Amino acid sequence: HKVYLNGEYLPLSKARVSVLDRGFLFGDGVYEVIPAYHGKLFRLEAHLQRLENSLSNIRLGLSYSVEKWREILLPLVDETKDQYIYLQITRGVAPKRDHAFPTSAVPTVFAMCSDIQYFEGREVGVKAVTMDDNRWEMCHVKATTLLANILLRQQAIEQGCAEAILVKNGYVTEGAASNLFVVIDGELMTPAKSADILPGITRDVIIELAQANDIKVNENVISLEALQAADEIWVTSSTREIIPVVELDGQPVADGHPGPLWRKINELFQQYKQ
Ligand code: PDD
Repeated sequence: HKVYLNGEYLPLSKARVSVLDRGFLFGDGVYEVIPAYHGKLFRLEAHLQRLENSLSNIRLGLSYSVEKWREILLPLVDETKDQYIYLQITRGVAPKRDHAFPTSAVPTVFAMCSDIQYFEGREVGVKAVTMDDNRWEMCHVKATTLLANILLRQQAIEQGCAEAILVKNGYVTEGAASNLFVVIDGELMTPAKSADILPGITRDVIIELAQANDIKVNENVISLEALQAADEIWVTSSTREIIPVVELDGQPVADGHPGPLWRKINELFQQYKQ
């Protein structure tokens, strides 16, 4: 099982990063999670565009072409399986711990590939809880600094739930590690892109598939009250795809089963990703 680290391929057990790496000391880095369905890197350009955006937002100067990334990533992938690539770039190893950017550090580039574990909750639906969105003001950046997300997700798990749905000033933003869709009065809605959410690649694909099938998508604000009254709630991400939420804060969502629009969009997504 080989991983990529700073220009080399080596066994996972041999991959080493200095304790002075700013990723370790400060969480000073960004990442991507890219599905690889039977060897095909899913929406690679979109993931790399988001990566570039994350890098420029944290002022980390590293710019590889799509072709260079493809060359780096493809050797990690097993074509016989559904997998995902985890790709992380940090501001590198500085001579000492100092909040200020180092003057001469070389970014650390790390990538590994893992099998996508089928998520059991997909067909039957999952439980979710709403929680106060206590993250920072740059949620559109895919930063490795995930302490808030981790604490939120862990609280959800300890309440028997698969995801925390986050609420900011009375409006829902996204999940701790997912985007959010709801169906209200037959209309598919998702929060509009802003610095409050990560612009999910799965989210983009769902919107495209819906529109191509004459299903309108309303990108707008969604209040907590609207969420509580929704006929369907889904959470979406690269690793879990489209997951129906059938119980919110202990209350069933509609009849407590995955809804018809989820069934339709999930089917379209499963066909599309092949
Ligand atoms: N997380 N919002 C947040 C906060 C996320 O962490 C993720 C994905 C998403 C969905 O984005 P996408 O559809 O591009 O995967 C939304 C990844 C999977 C992770 O952290 O493991």
